Amino acid sequence: MKLLITGGAGFIGSNFVRYWLKNNPEDMITNLDALTYAGNLENLKDLEGSENYRFVKGDICDAALVDGLVKGVDLIVHFAAESHVDRSILGSADFIRTNVEGTRVLLDAAKNNGGVRFHHISTDEVFGALGFDDPKFKEATPYDPRSPYSASKAASDHLVRAYFHTHKLPITISNCSNNYGPYQFPEKLIPLFVTNLVEGKKVPVYGEGKNIRDWIHVDDHNAGVEAIIKRGRVGETYCLGGGNEKTNLQITKAILELMGRGEEMIEYVADRKGHDLRYAIDFGKAKEELGWEPKISFEEGLEATVDWYRGNEDWWRKIKSGEYKDYYDRQYGQKK
Ligand code: NAD
Ligand code: DAU
Repeated sequence: MKLLITGGAGFIGSNFVRYWLKNNPEDMITNLDALTYAGNLENLKDLEGSENYRFVKGDICDAALVDGLVKGVDLIVHFAAESHVDRSILGSADFIRTNVEGTRVLLDAAKNNGGVRFHHISTDEVFGALGFDDPKFKEATPYDPRSPYSASKAASDHLVRAYFHTHKLPITISNCSNNYGPYQFPEKLIPLFVTNLVEGKKVPVYGEGKNIRDWIHVDDHNAGVEAIIKRGRVGETYCLGGGNEKTNLQITKAILELMGRGEEMIEYVADRKGHDLRYAIDFGKAKEELGWEPKISFEEGLEATVDWYRGNEDWWRKIKSGEYKDYYDRQYGQKK
């Protein structure tokens, strides 16, 4: 197969490209990524020069570029997005542009080139926020996004489904919970906290740290995406989750323990605006229909992830210092 991956220089996308080519070495991947602040080609340095992989620097909103790349492709897997909730609170324009308009451009290219199979990567945040005792999110849960980020992802999900119903575009959607693992940009909770501690800095817990997320290792997420692509029913949505509900304080304490640091390293800071209390996923449909379930235990995955950031200081120190941008400015021109 020939695949077009969008956002393959980001956290989940780069792990997916590596995962897919390991399991499907006969396939050919084109990775389209704009290299925004979150895109980092060092995430895929090991694939540079591979015959079955090519990188194209470009914007998913560039209709002519996207149309050209979609020609001859068997499958589009769409990861590219503005992904950080806190940034969407500071300003939502880039979120609407990339997440909504960018998805529309890709859908039109898929439609206009014979109806290319399209898998859309989405999030559990489209369902809103759960109370402590509410049942978990599942595919039938009504949409109730509450941040500009989740609203933009919800809009993109609706568009993807609309192209299925209106144009018979062969789509699938996955709504996944919080990912963790290697190559995650150190603005997100786990890599921020681990790298801060290596630097001797405190870790900023929002509010009282009681908010709950359902953590899944990025490799389990990508195995779920592969299962949907290979065995999922066209037109369907599948919820993917880790079965690992933890409060932010539990995560923080687990990281502190793994790094041999005490609770004096916690700094309680102002809460996130509109902070969703709890996310949790019922992945029963994916388990029953696709035979998928997460395999990596949280304890094992977190320890391996902490070790990865400790062993790859060069990767994250360049990001935190801003030096990684100079590298791409030299190779590909100015980063956003
Ligand atoms: P990320 O921010 O690490 O990476 C996003 C990538 O998209 C970057 O490489 C960036 O350069 C690229 N990109 C952004 N705008 C672009 C544009 N206009 N054109 C081309 N490329 C562009 O994000 P991530 O955490 O890897 O998330 C990937 C996808 O998974 C997103 O769609 C996100 O909504 C979804 N998701 C993330 C999580 C999570 O926990 N991180 C969970 C569920 C779903
Ligand atoms: O649920 C899936 C979503 O998970 C994805 O769609 C998003 O792209 C991804 O960024 C993530 O969103 P969250 O907002 O849940 O992730 P984040 O790592 O930003 O925060 C996790 C929790 O930790 C959240 O309750 C806020 C809290 N937090 C976060 C940061 C960065 C802190 O307490 N302190 C922090 O410094």
